[in-house]
Amino acid sequence: MPALPDGFTLRPGGLDDIDALQAIERHCFRASQSAEQYRRELTSPQCHTLVVEFQGHVVGYAMANLVLDEAHVPSVGIAEPYRRVGLGRALMVRMLELVRAHGARHVYLEVRRTNRAARRLYEGLGFELLSIRRDYYWDPPDDGMVMRLAFDGPTPAVP
Ligand SMILES: CC(C)(COP(=O)(O)OP(=O)(O)OC[C@H]1O[C@@H](n2cnc3c(N)ncnc32)[C@H](O)[C@@H]1OP(=O)(O)O)[C@@H](O)C(=O)NCCC(=O)NCCS
Repeated sequence: MPALPDGFTLRPGGLDDIDALQAIERHCFRASQSAEQYRRELTSPQCHTLVVEFQGHVVGYAMANLVLDEAHVPSVGIAEPYRRVGLGRALMVRMLELVRAHGARHVYLEVRRTNRAARRLYEGLGFELLSIRRDYYWDPPDDGMVMRLAFDGPTPAVP
């Protein structure tokens, strides 16, 4: 995993993080999952959640669901003042290591066509465009780019 900038730490998310996760999700996407949805995900063995902390506050998160050998990353977000210092990449790299070690062979995600930052982040990690879902998003409307990363080689040990 790339080194985190000084003062930042990365750890698994837990039930105590629900308020912080909702706040960052609202900040990044203008809406968030309910606390109950988070509770279900954070207690599901198929769901992996990672958070980045700075001075005791959660400033970023990533989630992934793993079913058999297929992982899906529904969400990754970094609070605005902390962007462009490598946290999004560090979270994603760690998440990819984690799902791979738990058996993922492929990772899928959707991203807005107009979300240049996220598309570049994913492309830099090796994700490739699989298909385009016209008008997949609303408010504002946008096409969804379905991206996929395929892992080669043997499954490494859980990090
Ligand atoms: C997308 C997001 C998670 C990136 O997080 P970040 O911590 O700022 O990203 P990093 O600093 O790790 O940058 C990694 C790479 O992503 C790309 N990138 C990130 N922000 C970018 C921007 N504003 N413009 C262009 N490329 C960008 C670059 O390729 C960058 O590598 P580089 O710094 O070597 O050029 C962040 O912008 C965010 O939270 N956005 C709002 C929520 C969101 O859109 N999530 C994704 C939904 S699919």
